[in-house]
Amino acid sequence: MKEKNEPACAPEKPLLISPIRDGTVIDHITAGEALNVLKIIGITGTTSESVSVATNVSSGKMGRKDIVKVVDRELSQEEVDRIALIAPHASISIIRDFKVFKKKGVETPQFLVGIVQCPNPGCISNTNEPIRSHFEVLGTGLRCQYCEWLISKDITSHLI
Ligand SMILES: Nc1ncnc2c1ncn2[C@@H]1O[C@H](COP(=O)(O)OP(=O)(O)OP(=O)(O)O)[C@@H](O)[C@H]1O
Ligand SMILES: [Mg+2]
Ligand SMILES: [Zn+2]
Repeated sequence: MKEKNEPACAPEKPLLISPIRDGTVIDHITAGEALNVLKIIGITGTTSESVSVATNVSSGKMGRKDIVKVVDRELSQEEVDRIALIAPHASISIIRDFKVFKKKGVETPQFLVGIVQCPNPGCISNTNEPIRSHFEVLGTGLRCQYCEWLISKDITSHLI
């Protein structure tokens, strides 16, 4: 019998990644950022999770994009906020029983607390003081609220 709601892959389009029963699909990732997304969600290659990755695939909306699918895994809000920093157009779909159970976009938070380490060695957030890092998200990058340092590129390497 034909399922009413089949996996969301048009039959005329070749399948890039096989469907999953339960898990999370992170789609519309900025092309080239998939491996950084894996790093954010803690997938290193020595973990036991089943993960599929497609990079630089063509997309109607984005030209090129990356996709990550993780079996039996849902993401925390903090992971979603980190993904937003490097892939502001990403969509997160929770898959249950092969169907899209819930889909949402990511939202870039205005402030990041305890997520990014300030590159300024003299910053008070890098001392032994019990202070969590605090950055404001600007169009030009991330600005430290303590020392005004601006991180304007390679945000991933500053993630805590
Ligand atoms: N069972 C499944 N296994 C793996 N991936 C799935 C499954 N069902 C849906 N997806 C993927 O989840 C994402 C969201 O599914 P949806 O059906 O909303 O896609 P869509 O129609 O291409 O929408 P859009 O691209 O606008 O977000 C897509 O990347 C789709 O390929
Ligand atoms: Mg699509
Ligand atoms: Zn600082």
